[in-house]
Amino acid sequence: MVEVLDSSAKLASFNGKSAGVKTVGVIGAGQMGHGIAQVLAHRGELEVIVQDVSEKALERGATGIEQSLQKFVSKEVITADKKAGILSRIRFENSLDALKNADLVVEAIIENEEIKKDLFKRLDELVKPSAILASNTSSISITRLAAVTKRPEQVIGMHFMNPVPLMKLVEIIRGAQTSDETYAVVADLTARLDKTGVMSRDFPGFISNRVLMPLINEAIFALFEGIGSAQDIDTVMKLGMNHPMGPLTLADFIGLDTCLAIMNVLHEGFNDPRFRPCPLLKQYVDAGYLGRKSGRGFFVY
Ligand code: CAA
Repeated sequence: MVEVLDSSAKLASFNGKSAGVKTVGVIGAGQMGHGIAQVLAHRGELEVIVQDVSEKALERGATGIEQSLQKFVSKEVITADKKAGILSRIRFENSLDALKNADLVVEAIIENEEIKKDLFKRLDELVKPSAILASNTSSISITRLAAVTKRPEQVIGMHFMNPVPLMKLVEIIRGAQTSDETYAVVADLTARLDKTGVMSRDFPGFISNRVLMPLINEAIFALFEGIGSAQDIDTVMKLGMNHPMGPLTLADFIGLDTCLAIMNVLHEGFNDPRFRPCPLLKQYVDAGYLGRKSGRGFFVY
């Protein structure tokens, strides 16, 4: 077993390391992207530019942020003034050029390695030499994304959890080339966002999905093999193990296409049959049953 230093052991020494990060670009205005933008503008008091090629996605992202902040206002977690201040720090842009003065860019686009690599190449040409490039990928290799840039030591994973404004964790993934300085900046920024950063080495699924996805996949096998109903499998895990959501509800929440993509990354990355995706998961994705976002997954919405 390789000995790995506990993330908390070094964190205190990073205090102030992210002071140079003032403007952050977020690419992708979807569920994760707009949540990340909201948290950056809220806790980090940073200027945030959200970029997406789709006007519709930008509009939906802006609405999502507005609604989430309004929930916090209604619960008196923040004031209406604070909400207005957060919104005033977020700009929405169509063109990638808008990110050229960013100190940090967080990519949160589709989980497709080739599309991400192409974007990282373009960003590397566009942003200033000191800028850090982070990916919110849930399973794609940071080492391989870094390798397409001329600044591999400034590439890192910042894996936020859904729903971003509520979940405390950011998994920080160090690629093989990521420098100590880049890690220190991102670890300090994570603390500024009032999140807990945990470092993971860059192997398929990192820590989070190495553990979570096989659990979800096994729950799908239990359904496939007729061991119990979807409802009963989820009830066992909720009431028996105190999980806030059952694994099948969580799979619907994450998106079944995303779950399948992550299982494929684990299966191919480790060449190990224990990570084979359940045939039922594949069939649901083929049928377009993608979970909450399509109105049907293991449950109907
Ligand atoms: N902003 C602000 N408030 C929000 C919100 C948001 N984005 N989303 C939900 N809320 C609020 C709700 O309005 C609700 O408020 P009320 O109590 O006033 O009604 C409150 O949060 C609780 O929500 P719900 O009642 O709907 O449901 P809940 O009590 O079950 O909590 C949850 C929701 C926090 C999502 C909880 O179910 C949970 O922790 N689920 C597990 C989530 C999880 O595992 N996430 C990780 C997924 S994996 C991932 O993201 C990464 C990957 O790589 C796949």
